[in-house]
Amino acid sequence: MAVEFCLAPAHPFPYQGSKRKLAPFILRFIPKNTACLIEPFAGSAAISIAAAATGRAERFLLNDIHRPLIDLWWEILSRPRLLCEKYHRLWKEQKGQERLFYDKTRTRFNREHRPEDFLYLLARCVKAAVRYNGKGEFNNSPDNRRIGMHPAAMLRNIMGVSQLLSGLTDVRCDNYTTVLATAGEIDLVYMDPPYQGVCGTHNHRYHSGVDLHEFVESLAALNHRSVSYIISYDGRTGRKSHGRKLPRFLNLVHEEIFAGRSTQATLLGRKDETFESIYLSPALVQRLGKDFKHLPISSQPQLQLFA
Ligand SMILES: C[S@@+](CC[C@H](N)C(=O)[O-])C[C@H]1O[C@@H](n2cnc3c(N)ncnc32)[C@H](O)[C@@H]1O
Repeated sequence: MAVEFCLAPAHPFPYQGSKRKLAPFILRFIPKNTACLIEPFAGSAAISIAAAATGRAERFLLNDIHRPLIDLWWEILSRPRLLCEKYHRLWKEQKGQERLFYDKTRTRFNREHRPEDFLYLLARCVKAAVRYNGKGEFNNSPDNRRIGMHPAAMLRNIMGVSQLLSGLTDVRCDNYTTVLATAGEIDLVYMDPPYQGVCGTHNHRYHSGVDLHEFVESLAALNHRSVSYIISYDGRTGRKSHGRKLPRFLNLVHEEIFAGRSTQATLLGRKDETFESIYLSPALVQRLGKDFKHLPISSQPQLQLFA
């Protein structure tokens, strides 16, 4: 039975920028007859997971430029139980020496890039954020208030996601442009590039960033081939827009999803609300036909359920 709009499905690992909470709103724009759902900027693949849970697509393609992340995905899809056992061992070993153990694991990860070490670091680091220094070394600190997801919860999440996606999913580690070239008219591309604000600031091997000009050219090429796509692209807090809007000549339909009150504004005693922007391609709007509906205002408070 479809869980659409009831629950945000499990996530395989904590990941900054995950679209898990917004998934129920984005899902409604994914045609039910989608052959392959392609995520060129997969991260924790929240939209593919939600789409698989609700039977929206027959196959999935997860791509990300970050090699350790894709290696982790490979383990989740092919050897999930072994991965969880290794995580369990790390989680137990840290007991009583959490800070030191984190540092040792981070050093080993920077040397050997083991997927289980990466999973442990994601579970323990501040805001589940992937940060590298100029030498390409993971350098985020641990969140010392947390000891990482309990292994039982990790096992449940990873097994659940693996059951949903394995056998139906290909994983790739390429620049997004390479993957876009494979998309056809019966597919759906969901793109969630890094925030414009962070593009180009960490231009090393894992965070190539996305050049706006090149991105717009890629979108124009998709339009030319009548490919259906959805883009999550920045948004606004109150009247302040984050990042530049995508150009009008692409003929995209712009929707806003209410994402809650901004924490910073609340601290300053203001009531600014945050909206995430999504853009739909002309081919998608045409394909949805009479099923295409702008997000109703009534959908907004619902999001609080997922917070
Ligand atoms: C905002 S996150 C995506 C989050 C994802 N929607 C989720 O639900 O977890 C953006 C992702 O794009 C990846 N990325 C950055 N530059 C890229 C590029 N040029 N090609 C492919 N992936 C890229 C990053 O490694 C990161 O995982």
